[in-house]
Amino acid sequence: MQISKASEAVGAIVEHVDLTSLSDDQFAALRNAFFDRGALFFRDQKLSPEDHIAFAERWNDIDINRFFTPVEGYPQIAKVLKEPDQQVNIGGGWHTDHSYDVIPAMGSILYALEIPPSGGDTLFAGMHAAYEALDDAMKARLEGLKARHGNAHIFGKDSAYREEVGERYKNAENAGQEAIHPVVLKHPETGAKGLYVNPGFTLNIVDMAEEDSKALLDTLYAHIAKPEFHFRFQWEEGMLAMWDNRSTWHYALNDYQGHRRYLNRITVAGVPLHP
Ligand code: SIN
Repeated sequence: MQISKASEAVGAIVEHVDLTSLSDDQFAALRNAFFDRGALFFRDQKLSPEDHIAFAERWNDIDINRFFTPVEGYPQIAKVLKEPDQQVNIGGGWHTDHSYDVIPAMGSILYALEIPPSGGDTLFAGMHAAYEALDDAMKARLEGLKARHGNAHIFGKDSAYREEVGERYKNAENAGQEAIHPVVLKHPETGAKGLYVNPGFTLNIVDMAEEDSKALLDTLYAHIAKPEFHFRFQWEEGMLAMWDNRSTWHYALNDYQGHRRYLNRITVAGVPLHP
């Protein structure tokens, strides 16, 4: 097995490994690389749904996403699907999964089954690198701040986006969860500091006037949008990406109209977060 950096800021490419027959030593090396780099990328994997579930369960329990339509017979596996006649994709904006939960999912494991002839890449951003690049005044300003996260505007019954996604999302009546998390998160495994706000689910900074909160979030989002903090993953069938939701953002590009793109995703349970 060989592990190398995907980009300076985020991710690692893992080669020469079969995820269905990982030794304990290989798994330990993957675990270190995952928490250190925030995301792992694999190619040429042949995973049945059972293999996908077994790999996910090596990390922790599965945290079933309550809004995605599951694969038939496998409630643990969420479909990330766009048909040729659908316009809107799932995850087509910067976000991190489950930040609206009190205990957000540790990571997401996405396996490619059908990829368009071109396009459909996924962008990743590294939150440790983005935090480290802030100046000292901004780091001091962020210290101790908390942010409110929620999901009603994405998955709830009044969400225009959910309507466009259509039957690919379910359970709209059960949306509305909110959670408060630190803006600067000490990673629960490594202790490294990273930014933990995202345009998808962060609603506002707690105890701050609405316009100041918006201005601060916009400043952080513009900072994180710099390509220096990114890696662009180009999918092929049989590839698998897994990312740490506490230390990365991701963005599924929607530039393949008229083609099918289908991946299966499992989210793995996390732990309580502390500043
Ligand atoms: C997601 O946001 O989980 C989907 C990412 C992708 O489809 O590339």
